[in-house]
Amino acid sequence: MKRILVTGSSGQIGTELKRLLIKRCGSENVVGGDLKAPPDEFMREGPFERLDVTCVKDMEQVIQKYRIDTVFHLAAILSAVGERKPQLAWKVNMDGLFNVLELARSHGCAVFVPSSIAAFGPETPKLDTPQDTLQRPTSIYGVTKVAGELLCDYYHERFGVDVRGVRYPGIVSNETLPGGGTTDYAVEIFYEAIRKGRYTCFLKPDTALDMMYMPDALNAAVKIMEAPSDKLIHRNAFNVTAMSITPADLAQEIRRHIPGFEIQYEVDPMRQAIADSWPDRMDDSAARREWGWAPEFDLETMTADMIQTLTPRLKLKS
Ligand code: NAD
Ligand code: SER
Repeated sequence: MKRILVTGSSGQIGTELKRLLIKRCGSENVVGGDLKAPPDEFMREGPFERLDVTCVKDMEQVIQKYRIDTVFHLAAILSAVGERKPQLAWKVNMDGLFNVLELARSHGCAVFVPSSIAAFGPETPKLDTPQDTLQRPTSIYGVTKVAGELLCDYYHERFGVDVRGVRYPGIVSNETLPGGGTTDYAVEIFYEAIRKGRYTCFLKPDTALDMMYMPDALNAAVKIMEAPSDKLIHRNAFNVTAMSITPADLAQEIRRHIPGFEIQYEVDPMRQAIADSWPDRMDDSAARREWGWAPEFDLETMTADMIQTLTPRLKLKS
């Protein structure tokens, strides 16, 4: 990893991943690419190119201009937006990935591609979801994630492209808001708890899902890309998780810091159906075994850090 391109660099994960990679590799060596500009406070951090991942010419120009050797491919349409715009989700998630893999093949790049808990479906075992199991997702986002996993395997097997990835759970972060997923409640709840002391959740109180705090998500991306190739049996789409929680669990933990916090539930049937089709808790032992995956944050430490970090920032803005 010497000259890096982060696609989707203005999104929830890309914004913070770019900053971390700059710290490790130097600002001149990490290029961000996205349809939209980064948030103001990130604008000056390393080069930024406005690009559309569905346009192979855009992508090739950037790869050539900066002599890119590694692509962290994060540009995507997430689950809730995907259900509203399935054609767009297919185009961005599949054409974008195909372009990245083709360019990686012709320019000799390594690639990181995140899959998701969405790659599983209602028939998948919900508890301790195995690394290798039945995958029949029912959302268009999930369909693109399974197809993407298979395409990555194919490019590795057929063309020797060094493409690696993890199946992220819902990611909780305090820098950039999430981009239209089903797990977004786990971020929104903190903003509303601090600003208003109450939150209306679109999922039922007992909806269990895997979650992870952003520092662990970034660490997973970097660690798998740096793992010795000969130790990887799976290589792509590793289950990774840090906690399995429900909205009620999260509300209870927030109340330890904000005692009067109140949560109400107004269920959105579309996002509830998506959440119900995903695992409650994945088994991530393959990632632990093959490349030493181990999260640092659990529900308690994540909640404390979120509230400590966000409170002064949100109070300053109000
Ligand atoms: P996000 O929605 O916050 O960011 C995606 C970015 O992609 C946005 O900035 C958007 O402008 C950009 N984009 C969309 N279409 C584009 C195009 N045609 N060309 C260039 N850029 C385009 O998403 P995120 O949460 O940062 O997710 C990044 C990756 O991680 C995705 O592959 C997602 O599926 C995966 N993932 C995320 C989560 C999560 O909870 N955030 C969980 C599992 C997997
Ligand atoms: N957080 C993502 C979503 O809800 C999971 O991939 O879409």
